Amino acid sequence: MATTSLYVGTAQSRVDGPAKVTGAAKYAAEYTAPDLAYGVVVSSAITKGRITAIDAAAAQAVPGVIKVLTHENRPRTAWLDYNYRDQVAPPGSPFRALGGPEIVYGGQPVALVVAESFELARYGASLVRVTYAEDVPNTDLEKNREAAYVPPKKRSGIKPPPDPRGDAEGALERAPVRVRQSYKQAMEHHNPMEPHASTVVWQGEGKLTVHDKIQGVNNTQAYICSVFNLKPEDVRVISPYIGGGFGSGLRPQYQLFLAVAAALDLKRSVRVVLTRDQMFTFGYRPETLQTVALGADAEGRLQALTHDAIAGTSTFEDYQETVVNWSGLLYHCPNVRLDYKLAKIDTYTPADMRAPGAVTGVYALEVAMDELAYATGVDPMTLRLRNYAERDEGEGKDFTSKALRACYEEGAARFGWERRSMAPRSMREGRELVGWGMATGVWEAYMMKSSASARLTPDGRLALACSTADLGTGTYTILTQIGADALGLPIERVTTRLGDTALPEAPLAGGSWTAASSGSAVQSACRSVAEQVFGFARRMDDSPLANADFAHVTFAGGEIRLGSDPSRKVSLADAIRAGGVEAVEATETVKPSMLNNLRYSAYTHSAVFVEVKVDEDLGVVRVTRVVSAVAAGRILNLKTARSQIMGGVVMGIGAALEEESMLDHTLGRIMNHNFGEYHVPVNADIHDIDVLFVEEHDDKVSPMGVKGLGEIGIVGAAAAVANAVFHATGKRVRELPITIDKLL
Ligand code: MOS
Repeated sequence: MATTSLYVGTAQSRVDGPAKVTGAAKYAAEYTAPDLAYGVVVSSAITKGRITAIDAAAAQAVPGVIKVLTHENRPRTAWLDYNYRDQVAPPGSPFRALGGPEIVYGGQPVALVVAESFELARYGASLVRVTYAEDVPNTDLEKNREAAYVPPKKRSGIKPPPDPRGDAEGALERAPVRVRQSYKQAMEHHNPMEPHASTVVWQGEGKLTVHDKIQGVNNTQAYICSVFNLKPEDVRVISPYIGGGFGSGLRPQYQLFLAVAAALDLKRSVRVVLTRDQMFTFGYRPETLQTVALGADAEGRLQALTHDAIAGTSTFEDYQETVVNWSGLLYHCPNVRLDYKLAKIDTYTPADMRAPGAVTGVYALEVAMDELAYATGVDPMTLRLRNYAERDEGEGKDFTSKALRACYEEGAARFGWERRSMAPRSMREGRELVGWGMATGVWEAYMMKSSASARLTPDGRLALACSTADLGTGTYTILTQIGADALGLPIERVTTRLGDTALPEAPLAGGSWTAASSGSAVQSACRSVAEQVFGFARRMDDSPLANADFAHVTFAGGEIRLGSDPSRKVSLADAIRAGGVEAVEATETVKPSMLNNLRYSAYTHSAVFVEVKVDEDLGVVRVTRVVSAVAAGRILNLKTARSQIMGGVVMGIGAALEEESMLDHTLGRIMNHNFGEYHVPVNADIHDIDVLFVEEHDDKVSPMGVKGLGEIGIVGAAAAVANAVFHATGKRVRELPITIDKLL
């Protein structure tokens, strides 16, 4: 079977775009139900200690307040299995909302006020009086550095640092040129547009339909069933649209637990929506303290590398991410030692946030490489090409493909890198200093097991389905394109459904694996449909395809065609009718190749080039130009792919210059928990972002040669900005974000 490529690889607008801009797309908090009750969360006013009393009488006395749930009266239906950890949970003991009087982090939920209207619930919440016995919070990561420990248990899916190779410390001593510096990644919160929300619809007799803001409905279903002892057939979880996630929607959050607990207790539908400041009361990118040491010869060839990281986690879970491993695989270097530790502080557990670990570790490595460029006088890009790794030396494997060299070369050409003068403060425009910096990006190219279904009807319509989510990434669109091409149908005839446990099971949408995983599943399901339809076509009376071989036919224009002979074709509609079926259906499951996983390393790469203009009098940094050159295997949709990279770069600019959740260590609380004080880039901060995809053919990484794009755009972006700021100003700021105060 030959497939056409009318849509895959082209720039297609989002198929879900009209629904999103017209408001037809519904989000978790927009679903309603007859008799819907509204829950508002009361957050702890302290960070550490115990609740000594909760007085909910005034709230209960408000007409319309139905119930105030606290640890004292929490429903017995809950918490049957205390040890359950969801798929995404790190090792440890998950936080249990209303589980007891202990307060373990600032903003912890202490009560849920349920009322007949949102306003009444909010008013009721303001009347709940909580008395605490307060302990001194311990939230300063720096002060816990000495207590840092190697995580006793590995988090599933996370690679611990590889064993050391060579003798890094010895080689560092002997190296003619040495750079050793410390870098800090700030705590950041995801801040999607849509706050976390759950609408739990009581269907009677303990059956629930749950509309949740979540990147993986199956994980949420398993969580609810386990925590509340329900059967999967009684819990349907739906999340077709997500107003941004960035990883905050990977793990079921406490508003889901509270909404389900209240619905089961009251036997009616309940909605709980978190406020913007409550969005700062669960997962985040952890603050991470890092030291990178590089030893090189006079021409900048690496001889030794060490990278140490200490990341914050909660007192109750050992959250882990891959922070230092990138330093062992990005460059050729014979002597490498990498260490990763955690330190417990009185916060909630961190969560995956777009390219978790890579954002942090690659930032430190890539600024250190820039420092080495200046220590040796070698152009930063030349330095990277000089240390190019042809193999993954960390794991001792070949890459499935690696077109990073093309990223450097094509990106540099597009940016005009050759016109850069090396010396800091040597480029100026009017009263502004101009700085050009660059960095490398890298992210793992995963593929996961995924199922999908395809259903073709005689009217020439194809319906695709799988349970994965589209968190704004373009998944609806690429799956629709794949289906249209696989069966040779106009794209308007193909519809895709996602985000529903009633659909074939797919992994949660994260890790940039959705295109490779669910895309391959859709292709496989469509191929099965094609085989069946072809079978019907061949068996038709006087079939024009009577002796044709499936391998030689083409699906195009709603027909099965053999060669260019116009008489040798059958329309899909005729074939299905001849088969005497209502529709042709298939559900297929694809898995990654274990053999390829053992043999090869699979990564996406990028080279990011950044121009900043700095007003030295005001300390203002503007990122005026970015070129991101990306090698990500086959690109399914040039438009949504470009948007993914642009979004990643914007978030990287935020990490570099703006985003920081600030803890007051006396109170142990995050102080800037709103958009007025937690700054993310706005339109005025963003100028020219140019994205280019280099040619990268990969027949091993996934059946479609796709690597995924959701995360690579952010990796390296902050380092490139930091390096550009150094080039402009001569000031090396080693703590993100580079705010005005650090430059004046
Ligand atoms: Mo992403 S942090 O895998 O949603």
